[in-house]
Amino acid sequence: MIDFTGQVAVVTGAGRGLGRLYALDLARRGAAVVVNDLGGSMRGEGTDAKVADEVVDEITTAGGRAVASYDSVDSPAGGQAIVDAAVGAFGRLDAVVSNAGIFGSVPFEDLSVDDWTRMLRVHLDGGFYLSQPAYRVMKKNEGGRFVFISSSAGIFGQPMEAHYAAAKAGLVGLTNVIAIEGEAHGILANSVMPTGFSRMVTETVGDEKFLAESGFMQAIRPELVVPLVTFLASRACTFSHRNYSAAAGRYARIFVGLSEGWLADADTEPTAEDIEEHLEQMSATERFLVPGSIVDEVLEVCERRGVSAMPGNAEVEFPQGSR
Ligand SMILES: NC(=O)c1ccc[n+]([C@@H]2O[C@H](COP(=O)([O-])OP(=O)(O)OC[C@H]3O[C@@H](n4cnc5c(N)ncnc54)[C@H](O)[C@@H]3O)[C@@H](O)[C@H]2O)c1
Repeated sequence: MIDFTGQVAVVTGAGRGLGRLYALDLARRGAAVVVNDLGGSMRGEGTDAKVADEVVDEITTAGGRAVASYDSVDSPAGGQAIVDAAVGAFGRLDAVVSNAGIFGSVPFEDLSVDDWTRMLRVHLDGGFYLSQPAYRVMKKNEGGRFVFISSSAGIFGQPMEAHYAAAKAGLVGLTNVIAIEGEAHGILANSVMPTGFSRMVTETVGDEKFLAESGFMQAIRPELVVPLVTFLASRACTFSHRNYSAAAGRYARIFVGLSEGWLADADTEPTAEDIEEHLEQMSATERFLVPGSIVDEVLEVCERRGVSAMPGNAEVEFPQGSR
């Protein structure tokens, strides 16, 4: 069994929906949990302390350990307070599930600056405000796990969600860099693109009655996302820098690959016409790499060019389509 005894986890947005289920599973497996939730509406209005309190009661009634945090992730002070709640109540911090979020659908041309900034503040700034103080604690502890809850909307796109998609895609960038810098300290960071029935899904797909009768709600029940998040938050997870989707019991890696592309002759100056001519070769995705950083990308092309970008004879290995 993947066990969290002696470990401390923070789950933001843990009062409702998917976050509540992550918190319950981590607690059931022995983690002491900070149940953070502002208790606001789906669009981010209002607060309600009951929302976090009820989950804490659920955990403690079942014999687990949990404390409530009502701070908003959307300010540096809020992020710090959530981390302080973990260290203050339980003395350490092992895993962070950055899950709190709001949602709203607006056509791109009608999106207001307020809609845009509020969405980025909660999802993307919130991810930073929470993870930086948590990272510092984990570094002292010599290890930890971050699970950033992103969204397929950010990776693949979704109409009327420019603000949400941009914020969620930004979390993948944050995950990438925390993973790279955290490696030396035993800190791993991965992200999850979940699909699970909640108030957010009702907004996107409409007619709840039909969805219940068709079996759709049951097929994408939120419980099906939980095992992936629990695994990534645990010490059983030994990799970093990856993204996984969980939807309807299908668990799959999502990756950004670099196609083999077209390598222009070294002694030519390619023109826009050359680009047009080689589009097919540039766009083919049969052969690709998943670079671990900009450095990996540049070293790979330098290797193909026969140029050295590093002092000494540093060699980079790129197993195709993996990392
Ligand atoms: N449900 C899905 O299919 C789906 C798909 C993709 C991504 N997600 C993401 O998963 C996460 C959970 O979504 P859900 O469907 O369970 O939604 P939900 O609305 O049921 O739960 C989100 C919780 O976050 C809390 N919250 C919002 N702003 C907060 C803030 N500033 N500080 C602290 N808490 C705050 C809310 O009070 C709420 O309880 C979100 O980040 C969402 O974007 C969900």
